Amino acid sequence: MSKKDPLVVFTPSGRRGRFPVGTPVLQAARSLGVDIDSVCGGRGICGRCQVLVSEGEFSKHGLVSKEENLSAVGQVEIDYCATQALAEGRRLSCAAKVQGDVVIDVPPDSQVHKQVVRKEAEAHDVHLDPLIRLHYVEVQQPDMHDPSGDLRRLEDALEFEWRLTDLACDVIVLQQLQKALRAGDWKVTVAVHAGKQIVAVWPGFREHAYGLAVDIGSTTIAAHLCHLASGEVVASAGLMNPQIRFGEDLMSRVSYVMMNPGGEKEMTAAVREALNTLAAEVASQAGITPQDILEATFVGNPIMHHLLLGIDPTELGGAPFALATDRAITLWAIEIDFAIHRNARIYVLPCIAGHVGADTAGVLLAERPDLSDQMTLLVDVGTNAEIVLGNNQRLLACSSPTGPAFEGAQISCGQRAAPGAIERVRVDPVTLEPRFKVIGCDLWSNEEGFADAVMQSGMTGVTGVCGSGIIEVLAEMYLAGIIRHDGTIDGALAARNPRIQEDGRTFSYELYPATATKPALKIMQNDVRAIQLGKAALYAGVRLLMERLGIDHVDRIRLAGAFGSHIDVKYAMVLGMIPDCKLENVSSAGNAAGTGARIALLDQRSRGEIEQLVRRVEKIETAVEPRFQEFFVEAMAIPHLSAPFEQLRKVVNLPERTLSAADSGQRGRRPSRREAKPQ
Ligand code: FES
Repeated sequence: MSKKDPLVVFTPSGRRGRFPVGTPVLQAARSLGVDIDSVCGGRGICGRCQVLVSEGEFSKHGLVSKEENLSAVGQVEIDYCATQALAEGRRLSCAAKVQGDVVIDVPPDSQVHKQVVRKEAEAHDVHLDPLIRLHYVEVQQPDMHDPSGDLRRLEDALEFEWRLTDLACDVIVLQQLQKALRAGDWKVTVAVHAGKQIVAVWPGFREHAYGLAVDIGSTTIAAHLCHLASGEVVASAGLMNPQIRFGEDLMSRVSYVMMNPGGEKEMTAAVREALNTLAAEVASQAGITPQDILEATFVGNPIMHHLLLGIDPTELGGAPFALATDRAITLWAIEIDFAIHRNARIYVLPCIAGHVGADTAGVLLAERPDLSDQMTLLVDVGTNAEIVLGNNQRLLACSSPTGPAFEGAQISCGQRAAPGAIERVRVDPVTLEPRFKVIGCDLWSNEEGFADAVMQSGMTGVTGVCGSGIIEVLAEMYLAGIIRHDGTIDGALAARNPRIQEDGRTFSYELYPATATKPALKIMQNDVRAIQLGKAALYAGVRLLMERLGIDHVDRIRLAGAFGSHIDVKYAMVLGMIPDCKLENVSSAGNAAGTGARIALLDQRSRGEIEQLVRRVEKIETAVEPRFQEFFVEAMAIPHLSAPFEQLRKVVNLPERTLSAADSGQRGRRPSRREAKPQ
């Protein structure tokens, strides 16, 4: 290298150096430690090493950079372009050679440690640093003068081309190795775990390593198949958790185990079978086989977590709700009968407490409230709400027994979210007439063509009310004065609208009339009570954490899970499910638990981070907190017995509260064991 050699500057790193004419750009980058990806080792096959020339005068560097200062496009790039697209201006850095002074821009997608920008608002980007990387190598053929084994020559090639040393290799790889080398004409792609362990070998060039991120919910299981190097989600699938046949909610599944010796084995087998079905489904979508999946990460609540691992969840069924372990777990896929690659590893995120599981760890990893000074409330609503509150100073977590009402269960006209289910509702405060929308139809019920539309495209009419619809209809009924502050349906309004109907000792509200084949969809007093119990439990859990932190308001609220994605947060606040907060600071976090599983899959560093973080979380056990019951009773009122909800009042015209006899009764009432006992 001399002063006369061309100067090459890489951006964005700013690294620079002089290189002799004819040096491949990738080689120059490597010698300066510039982060450029490559699987094929500079053979012009993988296309990961793309760069751009930044043209112009760079006085800072004292050079004029021009495209001509790289060698002209040659045969390697022509061959690459015959099968793949190369965006305009892009060059393969392994093929382009330095001819003169040049500034080379390394785009984010060509960096090994790239960031994937996530679409969701406020979420941080995913740093890509997968544990498994692919390396393409050409291996020396054996000959009579070199008696070394094929593995030795593969290791030599990996060391020479990729500087990988002290590699380990197991018998599964050895069983594949010789066939792969010969089938690939001594060119193979090798998957290396953590830079140390050869886990797979395939003949020829293989572009992608695949990983699977799985969220095991008590109702549904969702899986995302990702390219480990790019973070791209290439296929997704979900299915109902087959454990539902043993019990709808978590506690009933634990009861099943208690009452049926060996029941935990049945449930473990059921979830593992479902996982294999899901792996086959996503693999088929991506045009690969499940055996191409080299790694998987899992999140799930503590009971799902234990059942996945074949651990009897009985201890989680009663105080002190002891976890078998609160550590992250790494094991072989084969140990949980997961029929992906024979050498695949599984990483299960850590549980936090007996009711706060690896799914909440996933939410924490996706949301990272510990990186912000804003007091953030994270709520994952299911049959049990998992709640985290805190900021960069402290983080507290608890779970609260909300019950299945928010999912449409225990509601007389409730159903799961599916075509035909009412999901949006408005009630006219003057006429008390409702209008609504159902899933699968864009029209409101009072719009022309609605009746025909809901009988088309496979729908069989209006079939029930899903979770978000329940929240809206109750909140709208409250805003219209049909439901009082204490949660009773006001029978006095029956004179104003016949939809308010006497039902024994209470009243109901008819949302949709009976048809020739279906009974009317009515909101019964018991439905309101079921939601009140659930929302009071949720609010009480949040309130308990707020009291522990000595705060009277939160800065932002993120609602995780399917429920959080579909509800209108305004209505959730009108009912008092969540504490008062500026509405613009309340949003859905989507499937944050699943996102957390994906981050753990794609960024090995994140595993250590979440393992550290969960140790910092202070666990609060609602079942043994006397204050929880007090908060629960106060939160039975809509939106709350005493909290002023000042922020909400700025945007919603809340009815004036009348402290009725029922309210006074609530004050002294303690919740029943069932109401206040976490599930
Ligand atoms: Fe693979 Fe350049 S390194 S194409």
